[in-house]
Amino acid sequence: MDLGGVRTGEIALLLQTTLKRQHNLIEFAKAMRELDKMLLSEAKGFGLELLYAKVPDLLKGLIELYYDRNNNAGYRFFESLLYKTVYYNKTSQTIALWLTNNDHRPFCLSTPRLNEPDVLHLDIAFDNAGIDELAKMKRTPQSIDYIAGVLGITADQMHLFTTFFTNDAPPHYMKYDGDKIRMRYFGHACILIETRGISILADPLISYYGYDSEIEHFSDADLPDIIDYVLITHNHQDHILFETLLPLRHKIRNIIVPKTNSGKLEDPDLKLMFNNIGFNNVIAVDEMEEIAFSDAVITGLPFIGEHSDLNILTKSCYLVRIGQFKLLFLADSRIVEPKLYEAIQKQVGDVDVMFLGMECDGAPLSWLYGPLMTRKLTRDQDFSRRLAGSDCDKGMSLVNIFNPKEVYVYAMGQEPWLEFISSIKYTDESNPIVQSNKLVETCISKGIIAERLFGEKELLYESNMVLSD
Ligand SMILES: [Fe+2]
Repeated sequence: MDLGGVRTGEIALLLQTTLKRQHNLIEFAKAMRELDKMLLSEAKGFGLELLYAKVPDLLKGLIELYYDRNNNAGYRFFESLLYKTVYYNKTSQTIALWLTNNDHRPFCLSTPRLNEPDVLHLDIAFDNAGIDELAKMKRTPQSIDYIAGVLGITADQMHLFTTFFTNDAPPHYMKYDGDKIRMRYFGHACILIETRGISILADPLISYYGYDSEIEHFSDADLPDIIDYVLITHNHQDHILFETLLPLRHKIRNIIVPKTNSGKLEDPDLKLMFNNIGFNNVIAVDEMEEIAFSDAVITGLPFIGEHSDLNILTKSCYLVRIGQFKLLFLADSRIVEPKLYEAIQKQVGDVDVMFLGMECDGAPLSWLYGPLMTRKLTRDQDFSRRLAGSDCDKGMSLVNIFNPKEVYVYAMGQEPWLEFISSIKYTDESNPIVQSNKLVETCISKGIIAERLFGEKELLYESNMVLSD
């Protein structure tokens, strides 16, 4: 915990309250462990029907048992029904508001947010429409009394709440009105593509306007009033941030997520998840499925690797075609088998611009998925199954397949406003830096424009097309 070794009393209390408040979920987790154990010892390739009686009571009616083709037993949840049970507990959802003047925050996967005098914790669920009203006030003024009423701010919260607002107008947002395709890099894997008629935001992770930073960067002040399509590549904590997405909810027309309905613990259905936190406009896209609108097409493409060899379907690369211009978003995929991408290239052709993350070392499986594994992995197994993206060779195999004119490698968590999520501090000797430098140099030597992005970047492209709204 990133609390400097103090505040142990508060942590002990938090632990106690959590064990009490989350009693149902803790029992639920125990039941899954029991079910795994029972299947392992009793499901030996014979009919499963009799074993339903031995499913822990708490899971009865919520799961279906099955075998894979090699007689390994497993189970899937009826996930949409699960959201209707006590195990989806909206009262666990809260929002913390505070004024900030820098990028520093403790690492979010391990440090609980304790009470601080300058932080207001609101007990409101993520689907609360008050969040949209509050977010709109970044551009459209509204009275404090109005928003305090909507959010149910109490009299003793009011003093701190009032300090979060200003009478000063924010910088005026100028909608892009040119006849080109404008690409803006917002840091990490977050890219905004705009034309006069449409806007597409990939993997939203947006820093805030209003405080000094050593690094020039776009912020929430640089987002359009309407975002036509948000693209989510995969379900890792640096690609799906409620902190960014909830305040954008009122301006997002459609949110595209990779499709799954596996019902597996390790592969939650993102469409269901977003629906349950108040997004009503979610499109789940399959591999090679196209979404066409005005003069653009978004295609979901296979994403392999970076998921520790778990059977996780909720991951998608995207091809965005505007007019004749093609941008390929490859997120953190690791090209374990180039033949797959050769087959994709045959369908979609060469591309103009390619974006790729190259965190090629990656954390071991247990770093992210450890709590979901009911049987212990050996250290060797754990270390061999990493959350690793492409290295130079694997990245170059993609370049050679798709023949892009420009290649951009993401900053991979180096921007200071990312540190609380990534915990990464690279040096010049870190493998992802060495490998991405090598890829950039190799591309440049082949006459391809290439760069590792950092902080911000803006580019304009010709689309050879007629735009319409
Ligand atoms: Fe990832």
